[in-house]
Amino acid sequence: MTSFLTTNPREIVLASYRTGAGTLPSTCVHLQNQNQVPLQPGQVAVRNEFMQLTAVMADLMHETPGLPMPAYPLGEPLWGGAVGTVIESTSADLAVGTVVQHMKGWQEESTDDASAFYPVPLEYLPGREYVLNQGVTAYHGMVDVAGVREGDVVFVSGAAGGVGSLAGQIAKARGAAKVIGSAGSAEKVRYLVDELGFDAGINYKDSSVEEQLAELAPEGISVFFDTVGGTQFEAAVQAAAPGARFALCGALAGQINGGNGGHPRLDVMSAIVKQLVILPFSTHHTPDQLAVWVSHYGQWLAEVKIVFPTPSSTAVSTPPLTPWTDSFRAGTGATSWSACTHEAPDPPADCLLHGAADRGAG
Ligand SMILES: NC(=O)c1ccc[n+]([C@@H]2O[C@H](COP(=O)([O-])OP(=O)(O)OC[C@H]3O[C@@H](n4cnc5c(N)ncnc54)[C@H](OP(=O)(O)O)[C@@H]3O)[C@@H](O)[C@H]2O)c1
Repeated sequence: MTSFLTTNPREIVLASYRTGAGTLPSTCVHLQNQNQVPLQPGQVAVRNEFMQLTAVMADLMHETPGLPMPAYPLGEPLWGGAVGTVIESTSADLAVGTVVQHMKGWQEESTDDASAFYPVPLEYLPGREYVLNQGVTAYHGMVDVAGVREGDVVFVSGAAGGVGSLAGQIAKARGAAKVIGSAGSAEKVRYLVDELGFDAGINYKDSSVEEQLAELAPEGISVFFDTVGGTQFEAAVQAAAPGARFALCGALAGQINGGNGGHPRLDVMSAIVKQLVILPFSTHHTPDQLAVWVSHYGQWLAEVKIVFPTPSSTAVSTPPLTPWTDSFRAGTGATSWSACTHEAPDPPADCLLHGAADRGAG
């Protein structure tokens, strides 16, 4: 029995490593036919319909990504989030026709043990592609780590990004009194407030974040969800209320263009006087974390407590821009920076553009 029911399914593999910010990811990959392999007992074959684009994919094309995960192997398909339908099964656990989520990535068809695929809880979601998001990290950081609760005054840095856009909305859905997000343009700030329901936005390129926070949150922030680091972290320390919880998710200002924002200075005396609780975290996407996020996500979508724009395209051949998600938006005319999916089966080689971790020497 062969696993492939489609004629000549294809996949995108890493052909060479990126060597710096100037190396476009699209120049490092190529499209090839997939090997047809026999379906072993207990395995399933999945026809993929949507693939997720995240900034970290560009990082993983560097030989040394500088992340707590290895680089993409040369000659292998790029792994990442995808959604598809089981087209063939030798497993009692997954029937043909089941819609599943998995991490096997940029292939038209994926074959593996049934345990590598998770059924998508379609009853919770407006569409199967909605499952491809950064909500597991956002929920874990905002709820499990920061412990956001009613009445909190929350500041989210990198708030128009994949993680930040959901983190801020989760805080609102959990009853935060005020949610402030930072982003790098007036249009993104408008998007945060008008489309995502943030209470206020800060354009960190306009003027001092510390001054803007002092104006917007004179009572002090009680939760900081940080995806940026650098001077925004330093500003949050000054703006913090006593006992504020800092959930440290990422350091975009240190990840992009070789910036040094991964090493903010900590005003130790302020941290001591305010007894700040500083909590760096890594999300491991355990089955428990996935399940708790999806159930809340579906409920909040239905109640319109959160929105999740899902721009997608079948034809992306746009000039390279930075960052990846913005590039994708530019290519599709979509209105969001927060999520991107690409409809299989036309693999999106041309939308493999600059990613969030264009680290210069990378
Ligand atoms: N801890 C975990 O478990 C975990 C899991 C997933 C991701 N992460 C981390 O979370 C962070 C966010 O990931 P993401 O996928 O949401 O990123 P993303 O959507 O790709 O965010 C990219 C955005 O970063 C902003 N940015 C770029 N350079 C900046 C700078 N110098 N200062 C401030 N903002 C800058 C840009 O937005 P503006 O135009 O608004 O500046 C850009 O659109 C990353 O650091 C990622 O590594 C952590």
